[in-house]
Amino acid sequence: MNNFRKNVFGFKRLGILAPLIVLFVLVDSCIHEPFIDPFALNEGQPNTPGCVSGGTVCFESSVLPIFISSCARSGCHDAITREEGFVLDNYANIVRKGIRPGNASESELYKILFKTGEDQMPPDAPLSQAQKDSIAAWINQGAKNTVNCNCACEPTQFTYAAIIQPIMTNQCVGCHKPGSLGGNIDLSNYALVKAQADNGKLFGSISHAIGYVPMPQGTKLSDCQITQIKNWIDAGSPNN
Ligand code: HEC
Repeated sequence: MNNFRKNVFGFKRLGILAPLIVLFVLVDSCIHEPFIDPFALNEGQPNTPGCVSGGTVCFESSVLPIFISSCARSGCHDAITREEGFVLDNYANIVRKGIRPGNASESELYKILFKTGEDQMPPDAPLSQAQKDSIAAWINQGAKNTVNCNCACEPTQFTYAAIIQPIMTNQCVGCHKPGSLGGNIDLSNYALVKAQADNGKLFGSISHAIGYVPMPQGTKLSDCQITQIKNWIDAGSPNN
């Protein structure tokens, strides 16, 4: 009798559970993006170093800085806050969720850049068209971990308009502008950048010198970029 009961109840339970399990698996596979293995994307290599040319977007110098300065800020998508489960602070974390390699228009992380109102990302100000274009091209080119690709960098070139300001825009201004003033420092225009050059904090922070908070947060500019900024400061930080 006991055995009979067990069988009946065991069977009943399975009868109820089985459809639930099937439903769960179906729903789960719908709401979760396929898992992306960053190593597989890069043909088993941890990254794809080398010069980039002909419209190839360099992840390390052109895409990662946008994510770090505009998305991985504290309170948003850094490793601590993880808003909506997105951590956007390094290559592996970025490609893990919301990216369809080769298909920007199907990538959640790209589509969200065009939302407006409450859903706008980043919430304080949308990315520039050039920044959106870089992200789109990088995804469409396979979302590879292209690094050390800044070999076109020339330390003897350091005008504000062509060199310094683009570095600030891509790597710093996301965290240093009105409404998002890291350390109460604004780097969103020439006069404000020059003020930090004059007081020594600009070079102290980017060279990771003792006594300064290392910048940009969580990473370092290339040696060539640091030399360009040093040369510009040594030349009197001109607005050229
Ligand atoms: C992810 C956000 C973020 C990015 C990107 C970032 N900063 Fe900062 N920065 C901060 C925060 C937050 C502080 C204040 C840190 C503190 O006081 O502990 C700060 C402080 C500074 C300081 C003051 C340093 C000191 O020792 O007083 C300077 C100068 C600075 N940043 C320059 C830059 C430059 C130049 C870049 C780009 C190359 C940059 N930052 C990129 C968030 C950022």
